[in-house]
Amino acid sequence: MTNLMTLERRQVHLDIATEAASTAGAILREHFGKLASIEDKRPGDLVTDADKASEAAILEVLQRHLPDHAILAEESGRLGNLDSNYCWAIDPLDGTTNYAHQLPIASVSIALLVDDVPCVGVVYNPFRNELFRAATGLGATRNRQPMSVTTTASLDRSLLVTGFAYDRRETSDNNYAEFCYLTHLTRGVRRLGSAALDLADVACGRLDGYWERGLSLWDIAAGVVLVREAGGCVTAYDGSPVDLASGRLMATNGVLHVELGNALARAPQEASRLVYRS
Ligand code: IPD
Ligand code: CA
Ligand code: CA
Repeated sequence: MTNLMTLERRQVHLDIATEAASTAGAILREHFGKLASIEDKRPGDLVTDADKASEAAILEVLQRHLPDHAILAEESGRLGNLDSNYCWAIDPLDGTTNYAHQLPIASVSIALLVDDVPCVGVVYNPFRNELFRAATGLGATRNRQPMSVTTTASLDRSLLVTGFAYDRRETSDNNYAEFCYLTHLTRGVRRLGSAALDLADVACGRLDGYWERGLSLWDIAAGVVLVREAGGCVTAYDGSPVDLASGRLMATNGVLHVELGNALARAPQEASRLVYRS
């Protein structure tokens, strides 16, 4: 009985997140190529009028339906009932750098966490009109059709994706060695510029795996639900349970998980052998 009620509630929350993502996606399409302002929050970390308009639209939908819930939104911070054990994590435009350069690889990412566990995730790419949805126990879909991860069983047959955080010039933990070594071991490593879409692409079976550090909760919470419900695996690099607050995670089809984790651990030593020195 309780389970059924929980699943029914999750479906309601999934539909509310979908309404918010579709509304925000339409706004992103409207502003594309017509930006009034592009500001640097910190070097390389941009915010545009489209990010703000998208976020305002998402907040309006969530606050109208669920005024008692907490919200963590990238541009507005913490809002709503901060004592609630229901918290929405919102990225109104994931892939702002692409978007500002008129490269249509970007998304809206909306997740619901219950007691800090992501349970509902919606990622919407308004340029391809691709809607990725999942909720714990309800499965994962792409444009309302069930989706699942790949069955690729070895890194040498895999296509992976990663990203580089905005602090990459300030730390040696910048993912360059990992990128170099995994490029060597696989069919390729893509850098597409939207963490939420990277996770969605693993969930729907286009890509076999993803890793990244320096992420925020709003970048990854929705995508984590997509990958898990699509049959994949999400952990820390060493295979231990992921701490989303650490901003570091590895997501794969499950079959590749140990091999990718081992390669990431070896990367700092191995990459230095691959770089040409005169
Ligand atoms: C960024 C994107 C990018 C990732 C960065 C994120 P933003 O989000 O997800 O792929 O590499 O770490 O911050 O700034 O476009 O919302
Ligand atoms: Ca983001
Ligand atoms: Ca963003």
